[in-house]
Amino acid sequence: MSRDLRVGLIGVNGRGKLADHAHKPDEGVRLTAGADPEQAFLDEFREKFQADFITTDYRELVARDDLDAVFICSPDDCHEEHAVAALEAGKAVYLEKPMAITTEGCDRILQAAHDHQAKLYLGHNMRHMPFVLKMRELIQRGYIGEVKAGWCRHFVGWGGDFYFKDWHADRSKSTGLLLQKGAHDIDVLHWLCGGFTRRVAAMGGLTVYGAIDDRDPHPAPAKRDWKMEHWPPLSLKGLNPIVDVEDLSMMLMELDNGVFCSYQQCHYTPDYWRNYTIIGAEGRIENFGNGEDGTVVRLWDRRCGYKPEADAEFHTPAASHGGHGGADPAIVDEFIRFLRGQTRATTSPVAARYSVAAGCAATACLRDGSLGMTVPPVPDDVARYFEGQTV
Ligand SMILES: NC(=O)c1ccc[n+]([C@@H]2O[C@H](COP(=O)([O-])OP(=O)(O)OC[C@H]3O[C@@H](n4cnc5c(N)ncnc54)[C@H](O)[C@@H]3O)[C@@H](O)[C@H]2O)c1
Repeated sequence: MSRDLRVGLIGVNGRGKLADHAHKPDEGVRLTAGADPEQAFLDEFREKFQADFITTDYRELVARDDLDAVFICSPDDCHEEHAVAALEAGKAVYLEKPMAITTEGCDRILQAAHDHQAKLYLGHNMRHMPFVLKMRELIQRGYIGEVKAGWCRHFVGWGGDFYFKDWHADRSKSTGLLLQKGAHDIDVLHWLCGGFTRRVAAMGGLTVYGAIDDRDPHPAPAKRDWKMEHWPPLSLKGLNPIVDVEDLSMMLMELDNGVFCSYQQCHYTPDYWRNYTIIGAEGRIENFGNGEDGTVVRLWDRRCGYKPEADAEFHTPAASHGGHGGADPAIVDEFIRFLRGQTRATTSPVAARYSVAAGCAATACLRDGSLGMTVPPVPDDVARYFEGQTV
């Protein structure tokens, strides 16, 4: 593809700002069309990019012949409908995580890409975070031997303000936060540990925010209300009218390669960050820091007692410009090169589907007695279509 790329965006505000990184007229890429139910967001989008076309009906956008690709940054419960429509129209798609809010929804998206031979790229930007890449490099270079276990603790410090004041708190719109937030971490655990979850067990509950009666009956579109002084969590006001998702969840996973993983998520910690440790037969690694300046990965590979300084420490590059420690511009740049056929993808639609499948199975499990559940596989012919597209 050598002519200019014309790109559309569904969901122009909130996470839709990610697509700003794609708009590089000097390099032959222009954001030319936007769809969103909110006219004010559309007007702002048109002015910012001098867009040719805006609409409150996404179907008008995907029907256009002059678009090469569509970013889908709408809320989670729209992903299935928006992605299937765009893929059926033959558009290349950048789809935000989680791929969809059900496993069946993900499978419909994979099938549509397969049937229409359309390019599908998943927005799992954590695969572009320097500390995650460093952990993967250390594993691949054999620093900890054969991987046996992966653990992730996710301290969602601004959970109350970010995820309990709008649609995220309503399970009919998100399935649950174990999936909504955990899709990132399950994908990273799968990537670092080299397999996909086949069996899960989980426990969790709504342990703090359910006690807050102060609700906002009509949350503003894309409500964001994070403030340092909103502390302690029980002092929060203006929660979504429906709050029926867990604020504390814990899941166990058995991967198809015999690795065992765990993931813990809490939405009322004072601090916000993620801590991974990967244990191999000859050592373990762990990250300290969330991608900001000073983030390190430590390696223990000799017998010792408590040794916080570890046996070796690896600094990851300082955060560059752009969101999520530079991962956002990096992933959009890779998507554009993927579109042009210049690179394979670091993220994977099949892997994204397995992260949703594990998150959905775990959510069902914790809501229904915590007995173990199996994760259904992707059909072979669909999986084969995506082979060779991911690095
Ligand atoms: N990869 C990441 O790091 C990351 C970070 C934040 C959000 N996300 C994902 O991005 C998506 C959007 O999240 P958000 O917090 O920006 O949500 P949001 O509620 O702010 O909505 C985003 C945009 O979509 C629009 N929208 C709402 N309903 C729509 C519809 N039916 N059709 C088209 N547009 C619609 C909103 O008006 C808004 O402009 C979610 O899937 C979320 O998981 C990913």
